[in-house]
Order: sequence, then structure tokens, then C-alpha cells
Amino acid sequence: MAYYQHPVDVTSLPAWQALSQHREAMQTFSLRNAFQQNSQRFQQFSLSCCGLFLDYSKNLVDQETRDLLVRLARESRLEQSIQALFAGEPVNGSEQRPALHTALRRPMGDALVVDGENIMPEVHRVLNKMTELVGRIHNGLWRGYNEQPITDVVNIGIGGSFLGPQLVSEALLPFAQKGVRCHYLANIDGSEFHALSARLRAETTLFIVSSKSFTTLETLKNAMAARSWYLAQGGSEAELHRHFIAVTSNLEAAEAFGMHAENIFPMWDWVGGRYSLWSAIGLPIALAVGMSNFKELLAGAHAMDEHFQSAPFEQNMPVILGLLGIWYGNFWDAQSHAILPYDHYLRNITKHLQQLDMESNGKSVRQDGSPVSCDSGPVIWGGVGCNGQHAYHQLLHQGTQLIPADFIVPVVSYNPVADHHQWLYANCLSQSQALMLGKSREEAEAELRAKGMSEDEVQRLAPHKVIPGNRPSNTLVLDRISPRRLGALVALYEHKVFVQSAIWGINAFDQWGVELGKELGRNVYQGLTSFEPAPAADGSTQGLIDFFRGRHRG
Ligand code: F6P
Repeated sequence: MAYYQHPVDVTSLPAWQALSQHREAMQTFSLRNAFQQNSQRFQQFSLSCCGLFLDYSKNLVDQETRDLLVRLARESRLEQSIQALFAGEPVNGSEQRPALHTALRRPMGDALVVDGENIMPEVHRVLNKMTELVGRIHNGLWRGYNEQPITDVVNIGIGGSFLGPQLVSEALLPFAQKGVRCHYLANIDGSEFHALSARLRAETTLFIVSSKSFTTLETLKNAMAARSWYLAQGGSEAELHRHFIAVTSNLEAAEAFGMHAENIFPMWDWVGGRYSLWSAIGLPIALAVGMSNFKELLAGAHAMDEHFQSAPFEQNMPVILGLLGIWYGNFWDAQSHAILPYDHYLRNITKHLQQLDMESNGKSVRQDGSPVSCDSGPVIWGGVGCNGQHAYHQLLHQGTQLIPADFIVPVVSYNPVADHHQWLYANCLSQSQALMLGKSREEAEAELRAKGMSEDEVQRLAPHKVIPGNRPSNTLVLDRISPRRLGALVALYEHKVFVQSAIWGINAFDQWGVELGKELGRNVYQGLTSFEPAPAADGSTQGLIDFFRGRHRG
């Protein structure tokens, strides 16, 4: 049995014990002092790769912390886990599968043998198939039922079949091809369907039913609603193939839906949903920005893959980010992690990273089924700056919890308006600065006295004005958003998540917790739509079912 199938308990490792002791010593660590005492701190705690620059100097770490965290990674056999991931070993233990999203971005000519078969020719065959479709649509050769070119593409999918493609296609808007608009339909909510369909014309719309399993309720219901809408608008069954294509690993189910075999883009069980934007699930990206930009995206991610595999842990960006997360989650009791992009185009990155991180590392048992003996994945949350500053940053500054944050900001804007970008960038930097510096009691009092307040007033207000500071953050800086840099950025976080899972010994590639809700959903639906009580309904659920039924009776 491979070592990752019976992982060591990370808390029993000597480096863990050493980190616990070191944490005690770091209780009095002050970021303010650290910068005052070390003029090289910024240089010593920053690194760049693949068009990304990471400043992690505003963290509660010193040289010894980094050394110990790297030791922890080595003792946890992270290096072997990384090799196993890239080699296509079954790192998804509960499903006995490899997790080979990295293969999707490997260049033509590479070989990767899985179960005796080189999978790379098939990967590139599908990329070529995508190139052909994208070319036909962009050149107006793919026509709808009344011979008009396609102007709108609707991706019907949810979770990984939605969040990654949406993030990337919208982040790369400056690279958008003229003439094709991309839309996303995810939720099983008639209002969403209604709002979108009202903006479309059936004869010029192409629906991509995007579902690895082709069994996802929300996606199948929306696909059926889209088909009924298309028929009601004047489309015919005979021309359905001009308006509906699928991306799935379940070819039979897609054909049963009515998809023509040549309109089904395959994916494979060795690609997890939340890691699938690099596969044909990325079709809406390619349709939005063109195939050459899609390949640039893959190239950026591949560059990050190579960095992850080859850079020493001390200079390895995903490893450093993963270790910092472990430092705060396991040794400082941080329960959540904020992702704060200061860029309109990156506005959806928090949602994508939420699924990536929380569905991957939201587990309580290790690969061998034994319980984890420390906290695993944190809550990921956040949103675009500056909006967050005027909403929830208050809690980051003065709340009782320690919440590490990643600030992500491009240096150059695509849309300069007056001095907005200078202000946006300034706000990003000053937020991380404020989190770090805070405001001491002495500073707060001095400020109030300088305003001429009485001593009583100063003492009354000072406690409210104190900001503890010493709150950690990373800042990721990139030039303008480009396909290549974005590919590297998304892959960076994929590998950060993997680093943490490998150290905790958990399987980042299954998601059994999601299944129970699906099963119970069927029972509740049965209760809502029949006169029988819902199977196995508790008092609360049955009461809420009755409430619904009471309103819909007659
Ligand atoms: O239910 C969770 C999940 O399985 C995600 O992991 C996945 O990304 C999403 O549903 C969609 O799945 P599918 O692509 O099979 O429709």
C-alpha cells in the first residue's frame, strides 16, 4: 500500500512538537518590531514565479518558523505526495483514482502512462476538437436552426462545472472575442432561468450542458427547461443538435438526453469537478476568449506545475502558502481565511477558491479512514476590495478572531479612469498595513488629545479606537491579468490546497459529504409533491413541508 493510503498522524511528528513549542515563543512576536529590526524582511519573505509576486513578510513568522514548517512538510513526506500526484497514482483513495488535472495542461508530445495507457494523445485530441468547435462558432460557420450564426452561449452547470469557467471567462474580459457572449445557468431557481432566457433568442443560442457525471439534478433540470424553452421559441427536435452540446464523462446519459455523439466533449474520471476548468469544461472560456488564449491559460498553469515540482520548499510558492495556512489553522486557531481580490476582473475568484478549498479539505478523516487529530480546512470567504472595506473588514481589524487574508492585486489596470487604479492599489496595500500595524492605546490617546479632547473623553473613547494589529496577510501582486498569469494563479491555489491535504493526510479529491444532501433532497421532494409524509422526515422538516403544502394546496 502506498504511504499516502496510510498517512502518518502529522501531530505526532517531531516538527509538529517543535512548532508547538515555537508557537509559545512567538506569542510576543510583533510584526512592527520585526520590520524595524530587519531591513531585509521584505526581501527574505517574498518570492516570485510564473508572473506572480508573493509578499508574505506580513506574517507572524520568522526564519525559525519557516524552517520548522518546511521540516514539517519534509517529515510529512510532501515530496513523495507531489510525485504521486503528478505521476497519476491513485491519490484519490476512496474512489481509487488519480487526480490528473495537471495532465490537462501538459504540452503536446509529453507522455503520461496511466493504467498502461498514455493519456496525453486523448487530452490533445479533445483540445483539437475544442479548437474546431470554437473556430466554427467564431467564424459564423456553426449556425442555428434558421441559419443564423451563434451569438450567445449558455453554460448549464454547477459547482466545478460553473465556478472555474465563470471566474476565468469573466476575468479575461479584455481578451473577449467579438460576437459571442457567455452566460451561466447554475441554480435550480426558476427566477435565474427566467432572467436569463428573457435576454436570449433561441435561434442564435448554443447551450453547453456541462456535467462530469451528467446526473446532477440542478444541471439536468435546467437542461430540460432550456430544451422546452428552445422548442417553445420555434426550434425543432430535428435541429436540437445545433443548439445543445455536452461536456461529460457519462456519454450514454448525454446521448439519452438527445445529444449527437459528435457534439459530446469527453472528460475523464481522473479530473475532479473543481479541478476541471482545464478540460473541455473550459469550453465557455475558449468560446469567450479564443483557443489561443485558452492554451495560454494552460501554459501558465503548467509553468506553476513545474515550479511546484521543482522549487525547493523554501522558495516554493504553493508550499509556502500551504504551510502558512497550516501555521495559522493548527497553531493560532484561525478558523477562516479571507481571499480579497482588488480587481473587478478577479471578482469571482473567492467563490472558485471557496469550492476548491472547502470541498477538497473540508474532511475529518484521513485517507485510511482514521480521524484527523487536528483542524483541517478553514472557511474560505471574502470578496472584492474596496467593497469589503466598507462591509466586513471591520471584523478583520477589531474582531476577536485571527483571520489571515490573501490580498490579490494587479499593478496595471485595463481601464484607467483618472487616478482610480492608484487609489485601488493604495487601498489594498494600506489594508494589509493597517492589519499589521494596528493602533496602540498610546497612539489612540495621543490622537484624541491632539484633537483637544478632555482627558475624560480621551479615556472614554480610547478603548474603541485601539486596533490590535499584528494580523497576518499575504499580498499577491501581478502585472495585468493575462491568460498565462491567471492560469498560474489558479494552479497556485490548487497546489496550496494539495500541500495542506497531503500534510493532514486527507483525500482532497472526493466529496462524500455533498451526497447526503442530495439523497435527502429526493425524500423531501417526494414529501412536497405527494400526500404521504416524506420518508424518514423529522418533526421540523415535516412541519416545513406541511407549510409549503398548505400554501400550494388547491
Ligand atoms: O455535488 C458536488 C459536485 O459533485 C462538485 O464536486 C461538482 O463540481 C459539482 O457537483 C457538479 O458536478 P457535475 O459536473 O457532475 O454535474
